[in-house]
Amino acid sequence: MKYITFALAKGRLAEQTMDILEKIGMPCEEMKEKSRKLIFVNEELKLKIFLAKTSDVPTYVEHGAADIGVVGKDTIIEENRNIYEMLDLGIGKCSMCVAGLPDMKDKIHKSHSLKVATKYPNIAREYFYHKMRQTVEIIKLNGSVELAPIVGLSDCIVDIVESGATLKENGLVVFEEICPLSARIVVNRVSMKIDHKRIIDIIDKMRALLKEDNL
Ligand code: PRP
Repeated sequence: MKYITFALAKGRLAEQTMDILEKIGMPCEEMKEKSRKLIFVNEELKLKIFLAKTSDVPTYVEHGAADIGVVGKDTIIEENRNIYEMLDLGIGKCSMCVAGLPDMKDKIHKSHSLKVATKYPNIAREYFYHKMRQTVEIIKLNGSVELAPIVGLSDCIVDIVESGATLKENGLVVFEEICPLSARIVVNRVSMKIDHKRIIDIIDKMRALLKEDNL
């Protein structure tokens, strides 16, 4: 039997996914030990799990380096890879928002030269160009996006808001919600054909667990 390989987005989402896998009878003891290892195996179940940078998870899945990936909807939309999105795990819930300093709130759609800082240029472009029909300048950042309007790099940001603490503690507010987000199971298209039964079985077990938890 060949291995089923999972790519998980490093961090809290990976930990929550490991809980789910354990509950559906697919534990990986090796992952519980503190280490800098990136790939883990459960030989008995022919299961491999590796930890990747969040934005790379859809890439591993598209190319078949992983059969299954667990990643936020934000990354799925932004990366726009040729993969199947199979299940909403309902964890890591947050929103993609337009935010900024309060005095910009009523001005953003009136500006002809709005500067938008974001880690998500495709999502920002889609929102402003296609939904709002507004031409804006997108400034790509790689993190701490909330800094941009404070130091005068941009007029607003497009970023994830979870608890809202980062915005609040930096004097920023949400202007508009672009879309709700949560973690999803994604699957490689070829794996879905070759290992259809095993993959569907895993997803069905996860779905049943989610249903149970929501009861
Ligand atoms: C994310 C996001 C916000 C923050 C939102 O950043 O980009 O900055 O979390 O969470 P909150 O609403 O609960 O405060 P992340 O922690 O991934 O770090 P980064 O800014 O370096 O990307």
